[in-house]
Amino acid sequence: MVMAKYNLALLPGDGIGPEVMDATVKVLDALEAKTGISFKYKTYMIGDAEKKRSGTALPQETIDGVKAANACLFACVGETAKETILPLRQKLNLYVNLRPAKAYPGVPALKPETDLMIVRENTEGIYKMIGDRSPKSAFNVRVVTYEASYNIVKYAFEYAKANGKKKVTAVHKANVLDYTDGLFLEAARDVATEYPDYEYNELIVDAAAMRLVMYPESFEVVVTTNMFGDILSDVAAGLVGGLGMAPSGNVGEDICIFEPVHGSAPDIAGKGIANPSACILSAAMMLEWLKEKDAAEMVVAAVLKVLEEGKVKTPDLGGKNSTNEFAEAVAAAL
Ligand code: IPM
Ligand code: MN
Repeated sequence: MVMAKYNLALLPGDGIGPEVMDATVKVLDALEAKTGISFKYKTYMIGDAEKKRSGTALPQETIDGVKAANACLFACVGETAKETILPLRQKLNLYVNLRPAKAYPGVPALKPETDLMIVRENTEGIYKMIGDRSPKSAFNVRVVTYEASYNIVKYAFEYAKANGKKKVTAVHKANVLDYTDGLFLEAARDVATEYPDYEYNELIVDAAAMRLVMYPESFEVVVTTNMFGDILSDVAAGLVGGLGMAPSGNVGEDICIFEPVHGSAPDIAGKGIANPSACILSAAMMLEWLKEKDAAEMVVAAVLKVLEEGKVKTPDLGGKNSTNEFAEAVAAAL
């Protein structure tokens, strides 16, 4: 049997980024030993420190590295998100932002019954950053295209199909944003007609936010525009244990960047106590995207086992263990 070999681009970034990335590589190394899948890593510069050093937060070499790799893992940056992950998403047409929310054993959750996937459009909307201001007046333009809307909703239905889900909810504000979300809904309805066996419904974003908090179990796959997806995915993460646990993926046709949703956490950076779960779980999502489903499941199961046993916990989960000890426990659980 020929064993798969993957070139991975690693973007550790700032703050706790290098710490959670090291922890994740430790787990991937252990996976190599267990499965025979092999990884070749190449680390690239990104973020605040790189901007200070070279004048740019996103060197061309990093963009090229992400493009050339089979897959990419990005940890986090500090103040330079607008100059790093946003252009990466848009330039590389990583048009899907996949944001699961599911409760984990041993992690306090407001709504443990939550089990949903937010499929967020990742290239347009208000994130186009088109606008201007004068001293006392300002505007940002919200851009929605039929093509991007169609593609994101298509992805949501295909995700439902591949993962045994039956219901897709399109979230919008077409009652006010009549041009943009009117078009988004038009595309969504066109896609929905291609999937007659699936339940399709629509929800206005304010009502969706409330329903998400009160009845998260009523959602399976949520598909929405860029900023609504940004906000609702934090709401969903808050229902199941916060950003410390939340993985995500920026996915395009054949390029991807998987990333924990959390930021660089400067308050705890360098202390070796950050919870690496979100980054490790992002690596598991990356493995799934690489069609290494068994390996992905192994990693998730190992994280769940460590959380469930509760013997090794980082301080955010009420424990006293280090990032490294947590990673070693996950590696051992493989
Ligand atoms: C996220 C973040 C980014 C976003 C910021 C840091 C630009 O909040 O990935 O959710 O708004 O997309
Ligand atoms: Mn966000």
